[in-house]
Amino acid sequence: MIDVQAIRRDFPMFAAHPELVYFDNGATTLKPQCVIDAVTGFYTGHTSNVHRGDYAIAAMNDRLYDGARDSFARLLNCLPEEIAFTHNATASLNQIAWGLSHDFLKRGDVILTTEAEHASNLLPWFRLSHDYGIEIRYIPVDEQANIRLDAFKEAMRPEVKAVAVAMVTNVLGSVQPIKEMAEIAHANGALMIADGAQAVPHMKVDVRDLDLDFLAFSAHKMCGPDGVGILYGKKDLMEQMSPIFLGGDMNARFQKSLTYELKHTPLKFESGTPNIEGVIGAAKACDYIMNIGLDEIHEYERKLRAVFLEKMSKLDNIVIYNPDNEYGPIDFNAKDVFSQDAAGYLASRNIAVRSGNHCAKILHEVIGTDSTIRASLYFYNTEEEVEMCVRACADISLENAIGIFF
Ligand SMILES: Cc1ncc(COP(=O)(O)O)c(C=O)c1O
Repeated sequence: MIDVQAIRRDFPMFAAHPELVYFDNGATTLKPQCVIDAVTGFYTGHTSNVHRGDYAIAAMNDRLYDGARDSFARLLNCLPEEIAFTHNATASLNQIAWGLSHDFLKRGDVILTTEAEHASNLLPWFRLSHDYGIEIRYIPVDEQANIRLDAFKEAMRPEVKAVAVAMVTNVLGSVQPIKEMAEIAHANGALMIADGAQAVPHMKVDVRDLDLDFLAFSAHKMCGPDGVGILYGKKDLMEQMSPIFLGGDMNARFQKSLTYELKHTPLKFESGTPNIEGVIGAAKACDYIMNIGLDEIHEYERKLRAVFLEKMSKLDNIVIYNPDNEYGPIDFNAKDVFSQDAAGYLASRNIAVRSGNHCAKILHEVIGTDSTIRASLYFYNTEEEVEMCVRACADISLENAIGIFF
């Protein structure tokens, strides 16, 4: 059971902005004090680099930094050495795409994805198409961006070598049937890559049970600091895959003759000084949400969203684009009002949402509009906040939205 009022006391942003309704959790989440303390504690009490120093503080940071893999391994049910730290989900996805092109794919191979993906799970694949002749095909989705397994099976031809989709899409919150897709992909000899940016913070993701080959997500969307991405890959695949970046700490040795050897995974993926304090804070965030319980978080958000949807559906001035999806953000527009103007009006009522295309710039092919308002919840949001948002939405009109500018 989530005690939301107790949880809110962990987040200093609520005390700093008691009037704010923060419904922009799809973009980033607020941070609990324990994460803030972990980051600032590094600066105030134990600054050093990692994997380099021969003194007690450096050894302590080695333990904290490498120990962060244990937290994420518990979260995902994998081995600590299957976790590499990057800079964000985008960096993890770029590593996967580039690594596949370098070590696994050849000209003419096909990657399957969807039109509902975030730019970070499309552009790295587009580049493979331009640079290496890899073909990108879209799995058909329904009008709320859900993949139907029969359509997926149909798209799964012998030339398909990898499938790269969001577990939960970032605009419509479509929860894709990843486990079944992984089974089908593997039966056809293709790799299964999941963009978990909008999934891992909100639900239990067991990479063994789902049989994922690779998974990417960001710490900042799960109460952690900015600048930390997580790259999960099955150990044998991580060993086979080359890192994009080469440099300090990730190499075992190199010679004047231009030869070099890399360290084993995951260290070979972490070249240069990493975001040490960010990774230490990310581990705290990981422990924090595991302590609350991912199943509890999932259920709480599902119920809160259902209340939100029910109330929003009653508003005559609101069009909702994902009424049948059970999960994730509510994506909507106010009739006859440009989404950014409407979001500006909501901001004037202290409701923080995002408007625009949400980095999913070809989703308009599916939903028929390229600009919407996204209200995205997290486990610290409340029914009172939902009511405040719905009351403000009921008042959105062209006059009100434009009125805030005069
Ligand atoms: C589904 C999805 N994938 C990838 C990303 C990229 O995440 P980041 O900006 O943390 O790299 C986002 C960010 O919103 C997202 O929602």
